[in-house]
Amino acid sequence: MLKILLSGACGRMGRQVAALAEDAQAEIVAGVDVHADGDQKFPVYPSFSLVREEARVIVDFSRPEALPALLAYAKAHGLPVVLAATGYNEDDLASIREAAKEIAVFRSANMSLGVHVLRMLARQAAQLLPGYDIEIIEKHHNQKIDAPSGTALMLYDAVSTPQTVPIFGRSGRTQKREKNEIGIHAIRGGTVPGEHEVGFYGPSEVVTITHSAQDRSIFARGALSAAHFIAAQAPGTYDMEDLAQDMLKG
Ligand SMILES: NC(=O)c1ccc[n+]([C@@H]2O[C@H](COP(=O)([O-])OP(=O)(O)OC[C@H]3O[C@@H](n4cnc5c(N)ncnc54)[C@H](O)[C@@H]3O)[C@@H](O)[C@H]2O)c1
Repeated sequence: MLKILLSGACGRMGRQVAALAEDAQAEIVAGVDVHADGDQKFPVYPSFSLVREEARVIVDFSRPEALPALLAYAKAHGLPVVLAATGYNEDDLASIREAAKEIAVFRSANMSLGVHVLRMLARQAAQLLPGYDIEIIEKHHNQKIDAPSGTALMLYDAVSTPQTVPIFGRSGRTQKREKNEIGIHAIRGGTVPGEHEVGFYGPSEVVTITHSAQDRSIFARGALSAAHFIAAQAPGTYDMEDLAQDMLKG
């Protein structure tokens, strides 16, 4: 059993990780959460300085504000970390790079393995279908604030070249599509947890590759896989690409 210290333990994602840990051969030995509510099966502390349990890795689904204390604790105890929180600023990213000189750090804004398979397939398709028009469509529930999703932008990075230009929706445009455009379109409605489609539109054929999230447990499962992976790594920064390559090696 991989012993995990879970940061953000009382949040929506923290609870998912705790619920799925056992199935993933992991045990949450303790949690850290500024709003510890006492209804977890493991002790939850309001700060890292109070943790006494020994863990093998830290998994974080809290907020960027937790980062300084989390990295200080991880460095002091030589613990690898999985950073799943989003919204880090440039200073945060610099401190993550600095910490990665001493400890192994896994970070991804999207912990779903399936999304990363979509990314890898889309990248290959873009190479195999040169000249095809590429359009990315993402769909999310009506409570999502930002558009397009960070994952749509990640997919854009996977299929674009230095010559490509992103076009966010086509409203107001009065010219035909240029060859170097990639359209990115956001749909908002209902309770859709998240859908991403990369379409390749060529002469007389269309290839579409789609990922549909059915609930948020996919991020928890991915983070638990990342925890097993990072526990065995040397200091440095790692992401889903490294995990996928490791899985392909068998
Ligand atoms: N990487 C991914 O795939 C992925 C997927 C889903 C969510 N997220 C991110 O994970 C984070 C958590 O998401 P959520 O939906 O569970 O949010 P949430 O608000 O339900 O949970 C966050 C938890 O962190 C705690 N917290 C806040 N500040 C803290 C601090 N300084 N120290 C310790 N704990 C602190 C809160 O009390 C709360 O219990 C967000 O940043 C979200 O964007 C990432």
